[in-house]
Amino acid sequence: MCARNFDSDFDGITLDYSRQRATPGTMDKLYNLAEAAHLKEKIDRMFNGEHINSSENRSVLHVALRAPRDAVMQSDGKNVVPDVWNVLDKIKDFSERVRNGSWVGATGKALTDVISVGIGGSFLGPLFVHTALQTDPEASKCATGRQLRFLANVDPIDVARNIAGLKPETTLVVVVSKTFTTAETMLNARTLRAWISKELGPSAVAKHMVAVSTNLTLVEKFGIDPNNAFAFWDWVGGRYSVCSAVGVLPLSLQYGFTVVDKFLKGASSIDQHFYSAPFEKNLPVLLGLLSVWNVSFFGYPARAILPYSQALEKFAPHIQQVSMESNGKGVSIDGKPLPFETGEIDFGEPGTNGQHSFYQLIHQGRVIPCDFIGVVKSQQPVYLEGEVVNNHDELMSNFFAQPDALAYGKTPEELQKENVQQHLIPHKTFSGNRPSLSLLLSSLDAYKIGQLLAIYEHRVAVQGFIWGINSFDQWGVELGKSLATQVRKQLHASRVKGEPVEGFNFSTTTMLTKYLK
Ligand code: F6P
Repeated sequence: MCARNFDSDFDGITLDYSRQRATPGTMDKLYNLAEAAHLKEKIDRMFNGEHINSSENRSVLHVALRAPRDAVMQSDGKNVVPDVWNVLDKIKDFSERVRNGSWVGATGKALTDVISVGIGGSFLGPLFVHTALQTDPEASKCATGRQLRFLANVDPIDVARNIAGLKPETTLVVVVSKTFTTAETMLNARTLRAWISKELGPSAVAKHMVAVSTNLTLVEKFGIDPNNAFAFWDWVGGRYSVCSAVGVLPLSLQYGFTVVDKFLKGASSIDQHFYSAPFEKNLPVLLGLLSVWNVSFFGYPARAILPYSQALEKFAPHIQQVSMESNGKGVSIDGKPLPFETGEIDFGEPGTNGQHSFYQLIHQGRVIPCDFIGVVKSQQPVYLEGEVVNNHDELMSNFFAQPDALAYGKTPEELQKENVQQHLIPHKTFSGNRPSLSLLLSSLDAYKIGQLLAIYEHRVAVQGFIWGINSFDQWGVELGKSLATQVRKQLHASRVKGEPVEGFNFSTTTMLTKYLK
């Protein structure tokens, strides 16, 4: 533990990493490691639009999605910023027309409810931002009378829950899929298309369904008017796409473009900071290096993301994908087996809920480096007369206490002084020396939410750059998908033609046979 100079401030965000198991000497070594791994060059290559996603031969330019209108960012020799702003302008115009009732549904009624259909990167980021904005006073004022829901799981239960209480005539469906081939999303889109057509007739689809995709040919084939499609590009990875139309369209429909623009500006402020700040002051770099330190040098396999803000309840699920799909790799960027583990198991819940769930393990079981995220000014302050502190201070008391409990623990000697019964002393002892870091945000508005997102996106990239892996592909999701295709064919053949289960191993054959009975 180190008491001094282990904090860094940027634009209303304070990082305190004094409770990491790192000394100033450690930090120097980590900066040297960053030099040796050519971290700065790799960051520059990302911003310069080089094809750093080499296995897919693509640029990685999600930073261009939130770049100012007059910025220049090149992919394959072309400045992509004007394309980005063309789509943003189109979203602004479309969302304003839907919100002010000049774009109406097939029966002439305003479309007050939106179901965004998508999965993985086409779902988790927008859900996180929506959940975070929901109680922000400025954003929520703009959402009066509107609903935004997310349909992700192919489980028909998710469909039932999403359409419950909604009417097709006042609902707009946004189909969000980078590839427009993802099995779950396409089946859910067809299911909602049938829901709309059944009630309003097939021609209503043109007014009630729009799409976000890089594959506009398939959008048109599906039956959505290409004029009602919002493009993005293959240089945007799915899990890095929340700042593209993937997030901007549904969020603008719900909150209006002005709020979403603020969110983009927040993310952009971190992009500039990440690009230009020296490593010792660079929040994503510091966070990324400390994660590498914990994973690669201490061998801690997990990381807990613990926001002391209910508004951030979907932050950990989003970062799970950003981090684990990016850095859970077995080979280096040039395909060589790695002699060390990469990535970490990310999980988390808002405090204080988590304290009553899994903190026991964190305090006395396994060592899990923790990210505590707190906010100075609550979105929804409550002051109850006669209480010792206001409700937000009550929440934040825990935010300040937990890192110290982890760091300093409690010794048997201290317990003895407190006259704890001898046989309970081992049970009540806390070893301490458990690493955590704290991020304190001045507020939680759209701008800060954008900043938080970008800090974590870049942190994950830093880790990948140091480990020498490709953080921007995801081949590990493919095998399960192709095996599911075989199972799907078998289920069809058995159900429709009564064919027996064959071509699978013993275990799968047995289970499939039981399922089909
Ligand atoms: O699960 C793999 C994945 O390809 C993710 O990377 C992606 O975010 C998700 O599926 C959804 O893909 P799409 O946006 O193409 O439907």
